[in-house]
Amino acid sequence: MTNVLMLCGSLRKGSTNEAALRTAQAVAPDGLDTTLYAGMGDLPHFNPDDDREPPHPAVAGLRAAIGAADAVLICTPEYAGALPGSFKNLLDWTIGGGEIYEKPVAWLNVASPPRPRAAATRTPRCARCSATRAPRSSRPRARGSR
Ligand SMILES: Cc1cc2nc3c(=O)[nH]c(=O)nc-3n(C[C@H](O)[C@H](O)[C@H](O)COP(=O)(O)O)c2cc1C
Repeated sequence: MTNVLMLCGSLRKGSTNEAALRTAQAVAPDGLDTTLYAGMGDLPHFNPDDDREPPHPAVAGLRAAIGAADAVLICTPEYAGALPGSFKNLLDWTIGGGEIYEKPVAWLNVASPPRPRAAATRTPRCARCSATRAPRSSRPRARGSR
């Protein structure tokens, strides 16, 4: 069984990004176990001074969820030409733990119709992947993506 942890970058009720991940869960093939992480809103603001043992319970939960996963699937909106602050905060908490290092990471984008500016987030996202040394898929897989 392959365990995929799904991270949604939106906290919004009715999020289209969360809906996309839930759809991916619904159509996941046999042999793929998926978990939609639901703790982003509980994470404290990242401060290196607070990144110490024992970690905040929400941080421990995030790191345990990533550690238990074989791969991570991210689906996030773009806010102001970049990642939503809450999601960037989540990524910052992954650095000290290291559980995501070398873990396969894929990105799923939700945008209809595709907006040219959305491409702007690919740079910071990929930069974050580099920071975590997480390999990532380089080709879009979803029907209709460009
Ligand atoms: C504060 C804010 C900033 C946004 N900035 C951008 C942006 O820079 N580029 C873009 O394509 N969409 C932007 N959007 C639109 C969101 O990406 C879009 O509404 C997305 O579908 C929200 O995702 P969700 O449905 O999962 O919450 C912004 C939305 C908000 C609320």
